[in-house]
Amino acid sequence: MEIGVVTLFPALFEAYSEVGMVRKAMQQQQLALNTVNPRDYATDTHRTVDDRPFGGGPGMVMKVEPLQAAIKACKQTTPNGPVIYLSPQGQRFDQAMAESLAEQASMVLVCGRYEGIDERLIEMDIDREVSVGDYVLSGGETAAMCVIDAVSRLLPGVLGDAESVQQDSFTADGLLDHPHYTRPESVAGRDVPEVLLSGDHQRIRQWRRQQALTRTQERRPDLLADANIDEQDRAFLKKIRLEKIRLEKARLEKARLDK
Ligand code: ADE
Repeated sequence: MEIGVVTLFPALFEAYSEVGMVRKAMQQQQLALNTVNPRDYATDTHRTVDDRPFGGGPGMVMKVEPLQAAIKACKQTTPNGPVIYLSPQGQRFDQAMAESLAEQASMVLVCGRYEGIDERLIEMDIDREVSVGDYVLSGGETAAMCVIDAVSRLLPGVLGDAESVQQDSFTADGLLDHPHYTRPESVAGRDVPEVLLSGDHQRIRQWRRQQALTRTQERRPDLLADANIDEQDRAFLKKIRLEKIRLEKARLEKARLDK
């Protein structure tokens, strides 16, 4: 996959592409990253890329012309892929979007700074807006890195063990991940759950499934609506719900008696 990044801070992406999964994907020639700096396309002597907002208000707005020229330059190596603007107004990025983007041959990620970019640039040159979450970053660069990271680890052969993608949170049936442990067996009095040392793979699989279900119900019950769960899973979820209610009742009763 060929990813073009339009950014005022290309050095951030150079550093990022020297480590971990992104570096591996690039070494395997599954991923090529190409940054273009809009400042290189500013035409005045000060190389201005931003200006004050019409209508007043705080902050600066990124100008159309340098950004447009930078996107055009970027598209020379990525002519057919979508042009994505990272912004809090965008569609929320999630694993399903990462999976569908990983199928593209190329894309251009446009990183804004300041208060945002001129709306007319969005109308003319942006295919979609993507947000990494309901918070405001000072620029789109870290959001673009989230997208690059999540997408590049899905490219064929990038993760050594194909299983690890299968078992990720959100990939394994839309549930959160189960907990993981490694040596030593005991840390500050906390022991690895006995089942994981048992060598009984059937029991281990069942324990992990139940942990994933429990965590998802406790932390992200909203995910259960779309999760791929069967009758046995449902029965387990009901059991832990009833157990929670029983414990809560016992707690209230104890509080009443203690009064
Ligand atoms: N730029 C600023 N905030 C952002 C966010 N939440 N997601 C994507 N890009 C952004």
